[in-house]
Formats: sequence, structure tokens, C-alpha cells
Amino acid sequence: MTAREEGDRVTVREVGLRDGLQMVRTILTPARKIEWCAREAAAGVREIEVTSFVPPSIVPQFGDSAEVARAALRIDGLHASALVPNLKGAQRAAEAGLRKIDFVLSASDAHNRKNVRRATTESIEEFGRIVEWRKEAAPELAVGAGIATAFGCAISGEVRAGRVLGVLDQLLTLGADEITIADTVGYANPAQVRALMREVIDRVEGRPVTCHFHDTRGLGLANVDAATQAGVRTFDASLGGLGGCPFAPNATGNIDTEDCVYLLESMGFHTGIDVRALIELRREIETWLPGEPFAGAISRAGLPQTYDTRAGLA
Ligand code: COA
Ligand code: ZN
Repeated sequence: MTAREEGDRVTVREVGLRDGLQMVRTILTPARKIEWCAREAAAGVREIEVTSFVPPSIVPQFGDSAEVARAALRIDGLHASALVPNLKGAQRAAEAGLRKIDFVLSASDAHNRKNVRRATTESIEEFGRIVEWRKEAAPELAVGAGIATAFGCAISGEVRAGRVLGVLDQLLTLGADEITIADTVGYANPAQVRALMREVIDRVEGRPVTCHFHDTRGLGLANVDAATQAGVRTFDASLGGLGGCPFAPNATGNIDTEDCVYLLESMGFHTGIDVRALIELRREIETWLPGEPFAGAISRAGLPQTYDTRAGLA
């Protein structure tokens, strides 16, 4: 057994219940969503984005968001959060008792308009309103901000690093507690990730930074490796590689949680997550969501005999 340094810890945050379920045809019952959360928590996953506080008329899957959030808060050892696109979403999330929200906006103005029906600058202003409201109404609520299309946009093409960093600076100034940098449509490559994430880490002054990669073009895990080199220690991933933005052309799934944990543990990072339990759960979820495009290599090939997992020894 290898001694672990603090720096070896990596957090894998499950986003399948949000990014994954916003793309699937089947509407899961709240009971199944909660079973998913509870079983992933039992497998060692500590952070789950459990739902999304958007209007159910826009994403019907999330008509049960308050119920799911409340139930997830009762799961031992789990830090539940939810995506919100505006102040109303933040208020609904706080009302349900959540202690953390992930506000989303896009560096690409074209994608922001499609996704949340306003310009990026207007979303930044909305974030300011959330932080202001939080001061009085929900001082315990951690407010994270996620910058989507940070590596490119399927509508408008190139998104320059300077643009992303400009948005980042404004979010930090307004008071973002955490930052997520997202490759919503799978445009990023490892060199780009290393360069941008170094700049991001330099600016956040110790605030937690998460990378959110989609494996649309097969570079998802290579991008995780690159981000670890830049100092990133939290990654979003989706069980079975489900996911994608319904408001971005040709979007496909997130990096697969099982494969991401396998990569990180194989490289000597400690995630505290039992991959075998994830594979078992993923197989069951495949039966809940017939016809959906599940991805991932480890569930298909199995763990190698040489896999030296340190999961569960924390
Ligand atoms: N939750 C529930 N209802 C909400 C809401 C929220 N977060 N935000 C707005 N609404 C309601 C309003 O109260 C209003 O209801 P009413 O017609 O009964 O008065 C209605 O929705 C329209 O509100 P408005 O502020 O005009 O919203 P909009 O039509 O401009 O849409 C968003 C803006 C942000 C709500 C919408 O574009 C959205 O939810 N986008 C997220 C898309 C998504 O989930 N993408 C994938 C994840 S990145
Ligand atoms: Zn995503």
C-alpha cells in the first residue's frame, strides 16, 4: 500500500443525474434517481449534481427536482448540488435545502442565447443578482459558477481563451465560491486544456476548480490527464458516459465516471471510489434507460488483473 499525500486526492463529481438525464427519453421516477444517488454514495462518490432547477416545461425530466434534492440531502456523507440557470432556480434550490448550486453560463454568446435565452453579459448580471440575494436570504449556500463552451462552440466555432478568462474574472469579482470550466461540445484538446487551466488556476486564488469534459471526439480522458498536470483536482463525469446539452448541436456524453475513476486510480490518484460498485450500478441503470447510448471501456473490458485500486481505504 502506498502512502498518500494530500495532493494525490482527486474528487470525481457525478453529473449523470443532471447532464445525463437531461438528454434521455425515459423520465426516471424520483425513487430511481435517489437509488442511483444512494448507491453511488455507497461506492464512495461524495459529490453528486443531483438535479437541475430549470422549468419542467423546458426539461421535463426535472419536474421532480425539489423532491430529489430533499431526498439526496438525507444520504449519509453525500454533498448534493444542483444546476441553476437563473435566480429563480437558485431560490428553488435553496428552498429545497441544498447547500450548493452550480450556476451555468456560456463563454459563447451564441450558445448562451440558445441555452438560457440571453447574452453572456446578461447571465453574468444574473449571477450578480444571485450572489446579492444569497447574502441575506441564504448565507450558507455555496454558489459555484460553470463556464460552458470554454474550449469552443458548436454554433459559433472558436472561443478564445481571453474571452473565457474575462468571464471568469467577472464571476470571481462578483463572488463565485467555486469554478467549473466546461467543454460542453467536446472541442478541447490536451494542449489547450493544459494552457487554459494553468491560467484559470492562477486566477482563482485557491477557490476550487472543476473540469467538465465531454467525450464527443474521444479526447475526454486525455483532457483529464492534461488538467491534472495543470493542477485541477476535481472532475465532472457521468455514469455510463451519458450526457450532453440539448441546446447544442451534436452534443454527446460526458466522460464516463467508471473510466475516469479507473484512469485516476491507475495513475496513483486517490478518489475513494470503488469502480466495481460503479460498474454494477451502471449495468442496472442501463436496464432503466433502454435505447440510450451508454459508453465507456472499463464496464465492457473489465478491470485489468493489475488494477491496484486504493478505493475505500481513505
Ligand atoms: N425554474 C422554474 N421555473 C422558472 C425558472 C426556473 N429556474 N426560471 C424561470 N421560470 C419560469 C418563470 O417563472 C416563468 O413562468 P411563468 O410563465 O409562469 O411566469 C417562465 O419560466 C419563463 O421565465 P423567463 O424568466 O422568461 O425564462 P425564459 O423563457 O427566458 O427562459 C431559462 C430562461 C433560463 C429559464 C431557460 O432558458 C432555461 O431553463 N434554460 C436551461 C436550459 C438547460 O437546462 N440546459 C441544459 C443545462 S446547461
Ligand atoms: Zn455537460
